[in-house]
Amino acid sequence: MLLSSLVAQASPLSEQQVNQLQQLVSQLNPIQQAWVSGYLAASAQLAGQTATPAAGTVSAAASSSLTILFGSQTGNARHLAQALAEQAKTKGINANVVDMADYKTSQLKNEQYLVIVTSTYGEGEPPENAVALHNFLFSKKAPKLPQLKYAVLGLGDTSYEFFCKTAQDFDQRLAELGATAVHQRADLDVDYQTLADNWSSELINKLEPELTASSAPSAQVIAWPRVDSPGSDATAGSASQYNKQNPFAAELYTKQKITGRDSTKDVRHIEISLAGSGLTYQPGDALGVYFNNDPALVRELLLLTAIARDTPVTLGTETLTVEQALTEQLELTQSYPAFAEKYAAAINHADLLALSSDKAQLRSYLSDRQIIDIVRDYPGLLSAQQLVDALRKQQPRLYSIASSQAEVEEEVHLTVGVVRYDAFGQPHLGGASGFLAERLAEGENVRVFVEQNPNFRLPQSDDTPVIMVGPGTGIAPFRAFLQERDARGASGKNWLFFGNPHFTQDFLYQLELQNYLKRGLLTKLDVAFSRDQASKVYVQDKLRKHGEQVWQWLQDGAHLYICGDANRMAKDVQQALLDIVQQYGAKTAEQAQAYLDELRAAKRYQKDVY
Ligand SMILES: Cc1cc2nc3c(=O)[nH]c(=O)nc-3n(C[C@H](O)[C@H](O)[C@H](O)COP(=O)(O)OP(=O)(O)OC[C@H]3O[C@@H](n4cnc5c(N)ncnc54)[C@H](O)[C@@H]3O)c2cc1C
Ligand SMILES: NC(=O)c1ccc[n+]([C@@H]2O[C@H](COP(=O)([O-])OP(=O)(O)OC[C@H]3O[C@@H](n4cnc5c(N)ncnc54)[C@H](OP(=O)(O)O)[C@@H]3O)[C@@H](O)[C@H]2O)c1
Ligand SMILES: Cc1cc2nc3c(=O)[nH]c(=O)nc-3n(C[C@H](O)[C@H](O)[C@H](O)COP(=O)(O)O)c2cc1C
Repeated sequence: MLLSSLVAQASPLSEQQVNQLQQLVSQLNPIQQAWVSGYLAASAQLAGQTATPAAGTVSAAASSSLTILFGSQTGNARHLAQALAEQAKTKGINANVVDMADYKTSQLKNEQYLVIVTSTYGEGEPPENAVALHNFLFSKKAPKLPQLKYAVLGLGDTSYEFFCKTAQDFDQRLAELGATAVHQRADLDVDYQTLADNWSSELINKLEPELTASSAPSAQVIAWPRVDSPGSDATAGSASQYNKQNPFAAELYTKQKITGRDSTKDVRHIEISLAGSGLTYQPGDALGVYFNNDPALVRELLLLTAIARDTPVTLGTETLTVEQALTEQLELTQSYPAFAEKYAAAINHADLLALSSDKAQLRSYLSDRQIIDIVRDYPGLLSAQQLVDALRKQQPRLYSIASSQAEVEEEVHLTVGVVRYDAFGQPHLGGASGFLAERLAEGENVRVFVEQNPNFRLPQSDDTPVIMVGPGTGIAPFRAFLQERDARGASGKNWLFFGNPHFTQDFLYQLELQNYLKRGLLTKLDVAFSRDQASKVYVQDKLRKHGEQVWQWLQDGAHLYICGDANRMAKDVQQALLDIVQQYGAKTAEQAQAYLDELRAAKRYQKDVY
């Protein structure tokens, strides 16, 4: 009744269309309705702008508009790019936000104003969606850019040796190509928000006179999110008021240890309810999780620093007790150089000051130490406010979503490896994984949000074969992929490579996977139990063993995905792929690399690694 009366009153639709719409809506559950609503909104938005961009074909409006390119893996740079565009728009500047993966490099010579917002990964490497542009700019093909005015904003983490290296690369290379920096690059650490806001305001103030004088403000071309498939990014999370700044207090339904009693690993399957949040997600997305620190850790820290737990402190504009600040708002389990430096200065400790002044030594010292370890090693007295000022704000942890809403509706599932280790004679637990595994009881709430990952997506066509490489907790998004393909009745072949230490202890989701194999949803399942024999066997060994077939699947159009450990596994798997392409594709090493680059550009080679 509600829909028909509303539609009848103000509708531009024909009677037949109204009937069709009513029929469709009556068949949809609330999640599907939210999805359709977001889909239509995004379609209308794009229809009012330029044609829907296809991969690699986005031509941002050139001339006197501002093009903002983002290189981002976990959403931070993307959000800042979008906020910058919003800010520009309020000043009447046309701003186009473009995912670097979708940017047409031939457009560069037409750009007049370009902003690059990018993070850094690996050992100073570009995020996946920035690799192609980065390679292009550093190649001989890069054009001279004397017409270009640009600015670069870098995101990184000072715990890494190559802090904000990709931003530095882009800055240096654009200058070499003859472009002019209009605003000094900022390299921002994990707690970047305020500094990024300031940087953006300063930049817009500088650009405003030039860009508003030469262009009439009009609709901006937002080339992201793109409407590219059912369940596309245009809709994920869009029906909800909840996000990173305003997380949803979600109920923990269940948590279950899915590694055996004798396993060296503690992996939990976690189910969380999103009921009432309006939050939606796509397979490939991640869930952001905020957590409370361990009360025992807080108590020990206060004891060592002789600070009374109810001492009031100020965090931004908020006044709260030091105990509350340490428990709910500040980072206690990850350590980072800025804490050591500020703490050393506050307690005036000569040895820690000396250590802090040697960056490489400090990084090595901090690598296996939490904040409490530093305070245990270098006890000293400081005020509650000094302690709080030395600590950075807690950053939510991301977990690849291990479920599809097509199967679990308003739930979200995770596969969490608990960070648990003994060091310096004491047990240690990771902040978020420890909270989820040890301190959060079923029925209690956890603050969460959905972080979209538009660069880790199932193929548009259900017929396309997929190869998934996900050892350890890297299995998580592939469980989501399989659930989704199952629910859709997708006919494309699915091949999973999984690895973990022992078959009997660590075969995550064994029954589900074997059932999928029996039913034919999983076409092939290859497992590498690394420690079940004298010498290690890893997923890349299995890939190599089946190299000819992997090559054949790629020739048949397969999409290839890697998820899990970034430091070693993802690199070794990539090398195995290069070897396979070289051997079975009869290519040189350079040609094999070019082949993989083409797969990446075509969004057929995607990584979700951490
Ligand atoms: C996009 C993305 C997706 C992710 N998906 C998943 C997922 O599906 N499942 C999953 O489990 N994780 C996933 N992660 C990792 C996850 O976000 C957290 O980093 C992880 O759970 C650790 O967080 P924590 O708060 O428990 O530990 P933290 O408090 O952050 O502590 C971790 C730190 O402890 C130290 N440390 C860890 N182990 C040891 C050790 N043995 N010895 C000494 N020091 C050590 C290291 O310095 C490490 O940085 C993902 C990360 C990203 C970016
Ligand atoms: N960025 C972060 O903050 C963060 C935090 C926590 C975890 N992580 C990462 O998350 C990853 C996932 O952890 P997990 O415990 O689920 O699994 P994991 O440690 O990646 O182990 C899964 C399997 O991969 C094997 N493996 C080890 N080295 C490999 C290599 N070079 N190539 C291929 N396989 C290899 C392991 O074998 P063996 O162990 O027998 O060698 C094991 O069988 C961790 O490795 C860690 O790097 C990151
Ligand atoms: C696996 C991994 C590797 C990283 N490597 C670096 C690095 O080498 N240098 C750096 O400055 N930051 C590094 N970072 C930090 C990210 O750049 C930082 O978290 C950034 O805010 C991410 O932004 P994004 O969400 O836009 O990708 C790394 C982060 C991860 C998870």
